[in-house]
Amino acid sequence: MTTIPVSLGARSYDVVIEAGLLARAADRLKPLARGRRMVIVTDSNVLSHLATLQAALDEAGIASEAIVLPPGEATKCWAQLEALTDRLLDLGVERGDHVIALGGGVIGDLVGFACAILKRGCGFVQIPTTLLAQVDSSVGGKTAINSRAGKNLIGAFHQPALVLIDPDVLDTLPLRQVRAGYAEVVKYGLIDDPAFFDWCEANASELLEGAPAARAYAIAISVAAKARIVAEDERETTGARALLNLGHTFGHALEAEAGFSDRLLHGEAVAAGMALAFAYSAAHGLSPAADAERVSRHLRAIGLPDGVAAAGISASADVLVDHMLHDKKMDAGTLPFLLAHGIGQTFLDTSVDLADVRAFLAA
Ligand code: GLY
Repeated sequence: MTTIPVSLGARSYDVVIEAGLLARAADRLKPLARGRRMVIVTDSNVLSHLATLQAALDEAGIASEAIVLPPGEATKCWAQLEALTDRLLDLGVERGDHVIALGGGVIGDLVGFACAILKRGCGFVQIPTTLLAQVDSSVGGKTAINSRAGKNLIGAFHQPALVLIDPDVLDTLPLRQVRAGYAEVVKYGLIDDPAFFDWCEANASELLEGAPAARAYAIAISVAAKARIVAEDERETTGARALLNLGHTFGHALEAEAGFSDRLLHGEAVAAGMALAFAYSAAHGLSPAADAERVSRHLRAIGLPDGVAAAGISASADVLVDHMLHDKKMDAGTLPFLLAHGIGQTFLDTSVDLADVRAFLAA
């Protein structure tokens, strides 16, 4: 078992990682239940995990009530938020209660946001069931729904009280989803941990095949990196947390072009975006070309896209830059980019000229 603290003063919490943890979750949840019924919010893709969790709570004498939502990005909407908050109120959830978010990023983001606003804030616990949610979205307190104008535009920072990660739940996750989540794993190596990138190159295939030791190690390193960065810059104001957006600006343009659909999963877009960030850095003499090539080679080797065409996108440079202008990271006319001086040397550049980006994408 690995326990990683997220140190945020009064909002500090633990991320616990252990194979088989779901069936033993009651030990951790009992103090948060306060002798009351716990509400679990999940989606219909993970009903077997819901059954495991409810059986564990039952055995420990903790009553539970499940709310099962439709799977998919469309669930992160105003209508579902309204229905969920109404249901939580009907169930008598109090500010001191802890709602359990059991699922991937969609469930975590929606439930986290519902809990941020329910009675001006109630507790919640993240039990992520996708690799992407385990290594990224369940940790750090970003919560949101989508609006007509774009993804994650309505939200709040609201930290969970506990994150329980059971790597075994990934056994039932489709390989494409595991691979997409892996993009966020390799991201931590590219940001500031070159030794971890070396490890990724050597161990990615084992990890994707579900080797327990490789999987647990990758999750622990990723969560530790995320916990450190979030503790340094909880609300993305100093620039430290912005590093976690490596690949996300180029990636966002690709995702927008794909209509934020299953045509291109978020992690796939991030993979292509990271390769583009390295290629852009190399093209501008900021990073060795060999590092950019190494990043592309690794992503390709494990079946992730390493550029626009590889991501299945045929839009022109103009169209992609136009998508960038609608990125929520736009700040007074500039768009912050994460570039690199090499593998493990990512930095924030707020002076990138979009005309240069357009020329790079058109080349
Ligand atoms: N996924 C980026 C962040 O949590 O800041």
